[in-house]
Amino acid sequence: MNVLVLGSGGREHAISWKLTQSPNLNKLFVAPGNAGTSEVAQNLNIGVNDFEAIKSAVIKHDINLVIVGPEDPLVNGIVDFFLADETVKHIPVIGPQAEAAQLEGSKEYSKRFMQRNNVPTAAYESFTKDTLEDGYKYLETQKPPYVLKADGLAAGKGVVILDDLNAAKEELRAMLADAKFGDASSKVVIEEFMSGIELSVFVITDGKDYVILPEAKDYKQIGEGDTGLNTGGMGAISPVPFADKAFMDRVEKEVVIPTIDGFKKENLPYKGFVFIGLMNENGVPRVVEYNVRMGDPETEVVLPRLKSDLLEIMQAVGENRLGEITVEFEDETAATVIMVSGGYPEAYEKGKEIFGLDKTEGSLIFHAGTKEQNGKVLSNGGRVIAVTSRGKDLNDALKQCYKNTAIIDWQDKYFRSDLGFDLQEYL
Ligand code: AMP
Ligand code: GLY
Repeated sequence: MNVLVLGSGGREHAISWKLTQSPNLNKLFVAPGNAGTSEVAQNLNIGVNDFEAIKSAVIKHDINLVIVGPEDPLVNGIVDFFLADETVKHIPVIGPQAEAAQLEGSKEYSKRFMQRNNVPTAAYESFTKDTLEDGYKYLETQKPPYVLKADGLAAGKGVVILDDLNAAKEELRAMLADAKFGDASSKVVIEEFMSGIELSVFVITDGKDYVILPEAKDYKQIGEGDTGLNTGGMGAISPVPFADKAFMDRVEKEVVIPTIDGFKKENLPYKGFVFIGLMNENGVPRVVEYNVRMGDPETEVVLPRLKSDLLEIMQAVGENRLGEITVEFEDETAATVIMVSGGYPEAYEKGKEIFGLDKTEGSLIFHAGTKEQNGKVLSNGGRVIAVTSRGKDLNDALKQCYKNTAIIDWQDKYFRSDLGFDLQEYL
């Protein structure tokens, strides 16, 4: 069959890499893709939100399945768009419809869903410009640290955590009255702070059955020792050493099952990935957030641990028969180190030639922000390359990654060399 993957990051390169191992794959397309995806697929120069152009490409290239990488097209209704069109409605698009995509598109929607379905999460209230004074009063009743979340999509920047009450009030005012995050902060969720250690659990569902994929932990901050600004993710590991069987059993029973049951009860058609951001507080899981897609860079460690055929899983999801197939994983550890442009996540330069990609050994090299120009591979974003390695344990896998991050080179490259620093006590 012919498949189209939407997106242009390390996640989409990893998905494409895994799909090409399937005997059922005929032709693979990625829109818009990057220099890495062009090595395993045909890139199409189409934006992920240009639904008409995507539809035309699907017809032209006789595509039988579409896999959506990022959240934007899902929140914008790409699944609904396909379902409403007579010519393409029979082609499965892997991802939820727009209503369920609000689980990521609106913090308030997702908190309400959790409350209705008894999914454990932090207590919260939400406020708008008209209720700003109530928001101040609510903050006064809360204990620090104060967690403020812009309701809408804010490119991963919409969560602010502050220790000082006045600073929290000022932040609330800036979000609501000054539209600090534009429309995304026209509503703000103020949430109880949850302590503990974070991890992400990934679920694939056809709306009826589900499979829990390997869990992962990502490293969000730019600086070593988890310091500095938040990024899209500086690396990830899977499995997570503190996610033992007892904890994962609780996650399934208390979080995954009520979530999937919630989709059914509330009539929310959902064929796709559910990314559950969790806090583990002394073995008790609580949900930080839902995303309606796979994580990036988590995909770069989750898929290398998947033994089964990803295309077969995606087909089963599209045809509502996920319950009929067996999905298997490798026990070994996978780690990914993200190499970024110097200056990221603030200002950085693009267009730097990347050297050494053909000299690496023993790792999977996924491209994130790259493009090809005159036979050269150039940096084309903040996150540039994901180096994934598998090993018998975390340190083994990381050691292999760091051999190759030394070989791949461009002007002003940067990566964190301390991944896993916080997990040594669990090994
Ligand atoms: P979110 O976009 O909701 O995942 O939030 C971004 C990050 O902020 C999370 O990954 C957590 O590290 C942190 N965070 C969000 N909500 C809370 C909370 N209620 N308590 C503690 N940390 C939080
Ligand atoms: N790594 C976090 C995310 O994909 O949102």
